[in-house]
Amino acid sequence: LKAKMVLDKEYKIAPIDNRIYGSFIEHLGRAVYGGIYEPGHPTADSNGFRRDVLELVKELNVPIVRYPGGNFVSGYNWEDGVGPRESRPRRLELAWRTIETNEVGTNEFADWAKLANTEVMMAVNLGTRGIDAARNLIEYCNIDGGTYWSDLRKAHGYKEPHRFKTWCLGNEMDGPWQIGHKTADEYGRLAVETAKTMRQVDPSIELVACGSSHVGMPTFPQWEATVLEHTYEAVDYISLHQYYGNPQNDAANFLARTMDMDRFIRTVIATCDFVKAKKRSKKTINLSFDEWNVWYHSHEADSKRDPWSIAPPQLEDVYTFEDALLVGSMLITFLKHADRVKMACLAQLVNVIAPIMTDNGGSAWRQTIFFPYMHASQFGRGYALNAVVASPVYDSKDYTDVPYLDATGVYNEESEELTIFAVNRHLSEPLALECDVRSFAGYEIVEHIVLEHDDLKAVNRAGEANVVPHTNGRSAISDGVLEASLARTSWNVIRLA
Ligand code: AHR
Repeated sequence: LKAKMVLDKEYKIAPIDNRIYGSFIEHLGRAVYGGIYEPGHPTADSNGFRRDVLELVKELNVPIVRYPGGNFVSGYNWEDGVGPRESRPRRLELAWRTIETNEVGTNEFADWAKLANTEVMMAVNLGTRGIDAARNLIEYCNIDGGTYWSDLRKAHGYKEPHRFKTWCLGNEMDGPWQIGHKTADEYGRLAVETAKTMRQVDPSIELVACGSSHVGMPTFPQWEATVLEHTYEAVDYISLHQYYGNPQNDAANFLARTMDMDRFIRTVIATCDFVKAKKRSKKTINLSFDEWNVWYHSHEADSKRDPWSIAPPQLEDVYTFEDALLVGSMLITFLKHADRVKMACLAQLVNVIAPIMTDNGGSAWRQTIFFPYMHASQFGRGYALNAVVASPVYDSKDYTDVPYLDATGVYNEESEELTIFAVNRHLSEPLALECDVRSFAGYEIVEHIVLEHDDLKAVNRAGEANVVPHTNGRSAISDGVLEASLARTSWNVIRLA
């Protein structure tokens, strides 16, 4: 089986916005409590943040983390989570049917983000609340002082404002499961008025309007069109969310899911540009793919759980090797759309559908999906190249003409590095890749990283790292042509410099 690719340093799609390697921490399950925060844990710092988790987050080099939700934000009173801990209320958390202690709130999360070397992407509650709570929150977070809410922040021990730059206007407001679910017109009106008011408090912010909760929503893509009709000049991004699963155990079809994701992205771009044309606007709306991942392993366990406990295990998917391959393909899909997808958040970061897992009181470890995410974040910075790919194709249950090779290239001008990310989707055969890299004269292979495993269902657990990358990939370069052998069902990172 053979495939060809051409990568030329002059054929660039766009500079990659590093924020496509973002992630997400929601007040859900053990993401916060038992995840990033666990006072009394042997590695906890004086604020209760787990240092072992922080180390793993730093390995991923996560540029931005969305917070505090998710469905959670649509019932959240942000005031509950600030000020003296002893007076913070315990609340029924209706989105995930738990009890929220509010031990961690906005200020603690800002502290954690600093330690993790990451920016915060804040979300405001447009479910049970609206303009008033949003304007107060942004005043509390971003204004230096001299006003009621900014002075309250100071009184809470935070002299300097957090200056959060990126803000989501609610979460999945198109979903009937959302607290305060709205029609597109209802949401569009509320979002534009909230956006205008928030910008009056801080004109330097960037705003994300809610797009559809997934590509299969009955209101997609009319939702986007209507929301943008209302909000076009007031927002900067529209969000996309998408999770995939393989409940039927059809690997060929599962690994082809990025065909669907690619179409989703193209349709949202087309919808943004349709509204742009209609409004004769000079402004371009970009995409924030602020929830994406594989999610299905934990559905059954979650459906049997009793409600109203504190930080129970929820959405604790144990990821397989094949999940890591799809996560790799999803990252490649973002790179192919680097001109319009400017932010993306792997949902989520710790314990909840996450690359990092912990045991309460115990260890923290890397799931299979940790690795493609880490590689893309580490090496996928610079320019996304317009890769010309010729690959043999296959048909699966839902897709036709699926290329066995899913690949692209990233050129880092500063460090003079070219990185090829490639997935071989073939279930039984290696793929011989011939890649024309003649414009990268003098470049040699630095390393060829491979994630492979005999068993598509192999997983990692505490103390059991079964699926880990190695650097014995087979590739060679001569006369500007790179030849590589991509093992069957493998994730590959070929680095040249
Ligand atoms: O990430 C888990 C949940 O998935 C989020 O809370 C919600 O926005 C989405 O449906």
